[in-house]
Amino acid sequence: MRAVTVNAPSGQYEVKIGSGLLPSLGAEIRACTEAKRCAVIAGENVFPLYGGIAMTSLRAVGLEARSLVFPAGEQTKCLGRYGELLSFLAENRFTRSDCVIALGGGVTGDLAGFAAATYQRGLGFVQVPTTLLAAVDSSVGGKTAIDLPEGKNQVGAFYQPALVLCDTDTLSTLPKRELTAGYAEVIKYAVLGDRALFETLQNREHDVPQVIEKCVKHKAAIVAEDERDTGLRRLLNLGHTFGHAVESRSGYTLLHGEAVSVGMAMICRAACAKGLLSQSDFEAVVTLLRAYGLPTETDYTADELYDTLLLDKKFSGGKLHLIVPREIGRCDILPVTPDELRFWLEAGLE
Ligand code: NAD
Ligand code: GLY
Repeated sequence: MRAVTVNAPSGQYEVKIGSGLLPSLGAEIRACTEAKRCAVIAGENVFPLYGGIAMTSLRAVGLEARSLVFPAGEQTKCLGRYGELLSFLAENRFTRSDCVIALGGGVTGDLAGFAAATYQRGLGFVQVPTTLLAAVDSSVGGKTAIDLPEGKNQVGAFYQPALVLCDTDTLSTLPKRELTAGYAEVIKYAVLGDRALFETLQNREHDVPQVIEKCVKHKAAIVAEDERDTGLRRLLNLGHTFGHAVESRSGYTLLHGEAVSVGMAMICRAACAKGLLSQSDFEAVVTLLRAYGLPTETDYTADELYDTLLLDKKFSGGKLHLIVPREIGRCDILPVTPDELRFWLEAGLE
């Protein structure tokens, strides 16, 4: 088993990563919380696979366990489902000393985490990620959110879990497209700050728990410095500025990771065109993304993507922070005006 400590200013916790960890969920929760009762929140694909193991493990150590299962998919991260979850907690008389467990991918983690952050002003929360994306990104760092009809992640809270328990065996049932999309976020960490990880990923036979651990260590270091996303944490948006525009334009038919892959290729292409990234590093990133079966091109025009970007709420003080790769393993945060962004976008498409 591998363990990474996250020293977030609002709370310290362990991310435990390894094969066969799910049956120890109950004992782990006993060790790090005061909870007597747990609410296991899961999606309809995940609960039949892993819900039984989770519930048995909790009951085996004397914890009372209830479950609530939601439809799979981004549309579950909405006000209606959030309300359902709060009512479930209230009807079952959960209190602040109890614990919400998110068993699933980023959708479950974001929704359950936001409910845990807000029900009675916060109760215990544990993340059990079952997608690669959730393992390396969404389960760590305390961002929780639901979507509004007006936009993604528009309502949320920073709320750190008490524990992240990542049983890497659960990834074996993940649809291939979802696993591939998760690799976009893994490659993001490599481009952001770890050339050795980049080289590891060039070998498709790598050790997955070790790769997850490396990504989590990167994220933990960033979250320790900038929990509330006002500086360094912006680096985690590498590939996301253009990626979000592509994702939104696609009507969410592209998975988040697929769009991030396109966005990463675009920002690397633009940085290369501006002489900030070498041609060889640009080509290496695109080659690696493609080797994992990830897309690196889009048919959307600069006009279409720019219109979408201008609707993005991430402009603050008239500037948006673009994450610009300088070499594999090093990126800069560059504040740009909407006009400058337009030039970057065009350079990314050429
Ligand atoms: P997801 O939660 O929708 O899961 C993907 C699909 O895989 C779903 O259909 C799910 O039912 C299924 N699934 C999950 N685990 C499985 C398993 N082990 N076996 C079989 N099927 C399984 O998608 P995701 O990519 O994990 O998360 C995307 C969400 O995460 C988005 O809402 C995004 O906004 C959010 N996110 C949050 C953060 C954060 O910091 N909080 C970071 C990145 C992304
Ligand atoms: N996924 C971006 C962040 O956690 O800040």
